[in-house]
Amino acid sequence: MNSAFNLVQTLSSIFVFVVGAILLVIAVIFVIDITQTTHTVRRNFPVIGRFRYLFERIGEFLRQYFYAQDREELPFNRAQRSWVYRASKGIDSTVAFGSTLSLTPPGTPIFVNCPYPTLEKDSAPSEPMLIGPYARKPYEAKSFVNVSAMSYGALSKPAVRALSRGSRMAGNWLNTGEGGISPWHLEGGCDLVYQIGTAKYGARDKDGMLCDDRLREIGEIEQVKMIELKLSQGAKPGKGGILPAEKVTEEIAAIRGIPVGEASISPNRHPEINSANDLLDMINRIRDVSGLPVGFKAVIGAYSWLDDLFEEIKRRGIESAPDFITVDSGDGGTGAAPMSLIDNVGLTIKESLPLVVDMLNTHGLRERIRVVASGKLINPSEAAAALCMGADFINTARGFMFALGCIQALQCNKNTCPTGITTHNKRLQRGLVPENKAERVKRFSESLRKEIGIIAHSCGVAEPRGLRRYHCRIVQEDGRSIPLNELYPDIGTTR
Ligand SMILES: Cc1cc2nc3c(=O)[nH]c(=O)nc-3n(C[C@H](O)[C@H](O)[C@H](O)COP(=O)(O)O)c2cc1C
Repeated sequence: MNSAFNLVQTLSSIFVFVVGAILLVIAVIFVIDITQTTHTVRRNFPVIGRFRYLFERIGEFLRQYFYAQDREELPFNRAQRSWVYRASKGIDSTVAFGSTLSLTPPGTPIFVNCPYPTLEKDSAPSEPMLIGPYARKPYEAKSFVNVSAMSYGALSKPAVRALSRGSRMAGNWLNTGEGGISPWHLEGGCDLVYQIGTAKYGARDKDGMLCDDRLREIGEIEQVKMIELKLSQGAKPGKGGILPAEKVTEEIAAIRGIPVGEASISPNRHPEINSANDLLDMINRIRDVSGLPVGFKAVIGAYSWLDDLFEEIKRRGIESAPDFITVDSGDGGTGAAPMSLIDNVGLTIKESLPLVVDMLNTHGLRERIRVVASGKLINPSEAAAALCMGADFINTARGFMFALGCIQALQCNKNTCPTGITTHNKRLQRGLVPENKAERVKRFSESLRKEIGIIAHSCGVAEPRGLRRYHCRIVQEDGRSIPLNELYPDIGTTR
């Protein structure tokens, strides 16, 4: 009896203590909130005002997991992501009952199937395509789907290892992004495109300018097949690369040739390129020194500069041309960028790609300069539409990130990526096992190629690069669709 009484007494003392402690904490928070001068809501509504921040934070997760419809989210909705997840896991990618895609919004592509689709026996594999016929080492690119530029720094070590190994297995190239070539890019044995950004990471001298000796060394690396000079990217035209300080580890600093723990911000332009002449001089210098095919990447906004460039090429001779142009979409992704640039600067690939292809045709350069398209081309239909518009190659960055397990947590700029893809936090990287994810990279690349092929066969052509503008119609405001070749009349071969 006595011991029961003692137990009750102890429990009630604990209860009183806990409640007292909670009230004390609330009182302290109340005083902190009401006296601080930074946050209006907390000053006006002490303690409960803090829930606003909590709900705002968890709202992101609630919407993604519980409330958002399959076709609702941005940048990529659940249906688009699911296709990549299923393709990369090698699980059944068929869907049941009917399409959840509304076919009425303006801009929706509709492919024109033919009455006599290509039979399996008449289908053809996509042939390797030669890039850079005038370079000392031209490149035969095997795959028309490839990994778009993402730097080691923006990406983690296991992510790059998985991409390198998976790319070798799938036969596609891996673009290093502007952070230089790391041992992890080379490890898997895939073809590499080395990107030179405005800071020339990996090929700069002590003053940050392009170094010919370094370029020569890079040209000697067997795996490096091409060099891409980055003028701009869709997510941040007119702004250099941004690698937040917390992501500049010792290793990354050494590869880039910059101080540890300081944000790595590259210039917003190549200081030595200010005209068509300068651009061609730089392209030809890089090609001469490295021996590799050289192209440039840009998001198109203003476009008369392309006329100047193409005129200058004709003046100098066709061999002086860039070997490829990567046209990036205004709605492309990035590790970090100002919102105004990410949102509203630069044309989307739907507008810029036909424009660039037509300008190449007008100047008689379509056969000489290969066109690589990138920007949300992560599912077969978007990628097939880009081929119809005239792209020779499809690059995707975020498609391969989803293959690596990205859940679109939108934290690439914070070193807190929960899937280990864009963080250098070892604990978070632990979940990303390169050997396993390399398989997914391979399967995604292969599935994307295969399913674009299925669209091509439905249109009656033997292989994806046989797709033309008349194979794709675009839904207009009034709900009717118009063939791409009426919207953008073919003025030559699209390819
Ligand atoms: C994490 C991340 C890092 C990137 N880093 C680079 C880079 O170093 N250089 C570059 O030209 N583009 C970079 N990009 C842009 C992509 O290469 C690509 O142009 C763009 O995301 C559009 O393709 P997507 O929609 O398939 O992602 C990066 C994109 C992401 C998501």
